[in-house]
Amino acid sequence: MATRLVLDCDTGTDDAVAIMLAALHPDLDLVGVTTVNGNVPVELCTENSLRVLDHVGRPEIPVHRGAATPFAREDFPTPRSGLDRSGMHGGFLDLPPAVSSPASGGAVRFLLDRFASAADAEEDLVLVATGPLTNLALCLKEDPGFARHVRRLVVMGGGHQVVNVTPSAEFNFWADPEAARVVLRSGIDDVLLVPLDATHQALLTYQDCEALRSLGTPAGQATATMVERRIRAHDVDQSGSERGTAPVHDAVCVAVLVAPEVVTAERYYVDVETVGDLTVGRSVVDVHRRSGRGPNARVAMAADGRRFVELLLSTFAAG
Ligand code: RIB
Ligand code: CA
Repeated sequence: MATRLVLDCDTGTDDAVAIMLAALHPDLDLVGVTTVNGNVPVELCTENSLRVLDHVGRPEIPVHRGAATPFAREDFPTPRSGLDRSGMHGGFLDLPPAVSSPASGGAVRFLLDRFASAADAEEDLVLVATGPLTNLALCLKEDPGFARHVRRLVVMGGGHQVVNVTPSAEFNFWADPEAARVVLRSGIDDVLLVPLDATHQALLTYQDCEALRSLGTPAGQATATMVERRIRAHDVDQSGSERGTAPVHDAVCVAVLVAPEVVTAERYYVDVETVGDLTVGRSVVDVHRRSGRGPNARVAMAADGRRFVELLLSTFAAG
C-alpha cells in the first residue's frame, strides 16, 4: 500500500527534488501540492511546482496556491531584498514554462478539507512541509481540529548546531517564526522535524550529479542541474558543507517516508523564538530536557547521506 502524502512547499531547487521523489517513487502517492511564500514569492513557487510536475509527467497532481505573506507579520524579519540569497534557487526553476494551471481553491481550503476527509475515512495521509509553516498555521487558526486531522507531519525546518540565514536561525523557521511556533505547539501527535543538523549530513557531490544525469531520465537530468546549482551557491556563501557539496534538505523529508533509516531521530521538546534582534526564528531544541516540558517532536540529528543518494538514483532511474 503506497504512502499517501501532501507536500506543502516553497518550491525552489530542493523542494523540486522533493516533489519529484514524491511523484515518482512507487511506494508514494502524492495527492496534492500546496505552495507558500518562502524561497521565492508564492506565484513563482506555484509556477515552479507546476513546471516540475509537468517535467516528470505528473500534471494531474493538483497544485494549490497558498500564503503570499507570513502568518503574523507583513514580511520576513529581513525583507527578501535584503537577503544574501546566493542564486540558490534562481527565481523560476530552470525548466520549461508550465503547461498545467494551478488547481482551483487555495492551499488552506485544500489542506483543511483533504485532511478532514482523511480523518473521517481513517485514511493514512502524511503532511510533509518543506517551506515556512504559514499555510499550516492558517489552517490551525481557522480550525484547531486540523491538529487532530493531521496524524503525521514531517517538517523540514530549524537548526540546532547548524544554521543558514542568520547567526541563529534556519530559513523556514526564520521566515515565519510565529507560524513555526503555532505548529509546534498545536499538539499534532506525530511530528518528525528534520533540521539542518540532519540535512547537512546528506550532502550530494558533483559526482552524484553526474550519476543522476547519466540516468538519462527527466528527473535525473533535472535533479543534476538543480543540485549543481546548489553546490555552486553553497561554495559561494554557505558554511556547513565542504566545498563541492550541497544538501538537498527537502528531499530528505520525503525519503524518510520510504526509507526511515535515512535519518536518526530522538524525541525532544522544540520551540521557536519569535522575538529578539539576534535570535528571531531560532529553533530551541531541549536536548538536555531543561524546559520541564515533554517532547513534542522526534528531531533528526543525523542522516545517512549515501542511503539518501541511493534512493534518489534508484527512484529517478525510472523517471
Ligand atoms: O533552510 C532550508 C530550507 O529553506 C529548505 O526547505 C529550502 O528550500 C528553504 O525553504
Ligand atoms: Ca523549501
